[in-house]
Amino acid sequence: MEQSECEVADRSLVHQSDSLFERCSWFYALCREYLFRDHTQEIVRSLFPVEPPAPGTKLLELGCGPGFYACRLSEELPTLQTTGVDLSVALIERATSRAKSRQLSNCSFQHADAHSLPYPSHSIDAVVVSRLFLIVPDKEGIVREIHRVLRPGGRCFIAEPTSGFRTRLPLAVMWILSRLTTSPAGKDREPQVADVMSRPDFKALVETQPWGSMELEYDGWYQYAVCRKSSTNA
Ligand SMILES: C[S@@+](CC[C@H](N)C(=O)[O-])C[C@H]1O[C@@H](n2cnc3c(N)ncnc32)[C@H](O)[C@@H]1O
Repeated sequence: MEQSECEVADRSLVHQSDSLFERCSWFYALCREYLFRDHTQEIVRSLFPVEPPAPGTKLLELGCGPGFYACRLSEELPTLQTTGVDLSVALIERATSRAKSRQLSNCSFQHADAHSLPYPSHSIDAVVVSRLFLIVPDKEGIVREIHRVLRPGGRCFIAEPTSGFRTRLPLAVMWILSRLTTSPAGKDREPQVADVMSRPDFKALVETQPWGSMELEYDGWYQYAVCRKSSTNA
């Protein structure tokens, strides 16, 4: 077992209930479904620009929440083997039922911490990360993990919101709901204010790893990074 696997078990057990996403999973699932933008087509084009993925291609979604992208991508690309990873047990359960109700046999979910993924180095073909860096304590550590688990030549797609107001509002509502429905008031691990990165900070974060190639885009609402691990970088 690699060291990171031991850390995952510890962190997950200790923190699993201290989360807004745990307490208000239903509210986040509603926001994801009806409020936030769907980037599925951009993800497909970015991760598989030349041809569809070969059978068995392994894709990981980090901080998958209710499994929106893991399910959409598994439907769109049936040759993928998709795994969604999240710290919230409640959201993993929602995601699992979502995949089951859609009869997706190529989509599964795992309770794990994106800071210390339970996967061997160089074992994953593609990684998707959407709206995760807003709320995590160690952004660089997660980018390091993405780079570690990707195989040489593997790609990742990262999408982070740029609008402070639109991002902070759902989190603020979750804080209020959590305070109203939890007695005594819980101590959630997420920050009270989402950390919306500036463009220079986002670039600096992605550049912390020695990608073979890296493209950054910005459309006013979101900033994106599409990175490819160097083919010689083992
Ligand atoms: C803002 S939501 C984004 C969900 C989804 N990716 C989307 O696009 O809507 C952040 C998600 O990351 C999860 N999360 C937070 N910290 C995490 C960590 N360290 N490891 C894995 N998941 C984490 C939360 O439980 C939540 O489901």
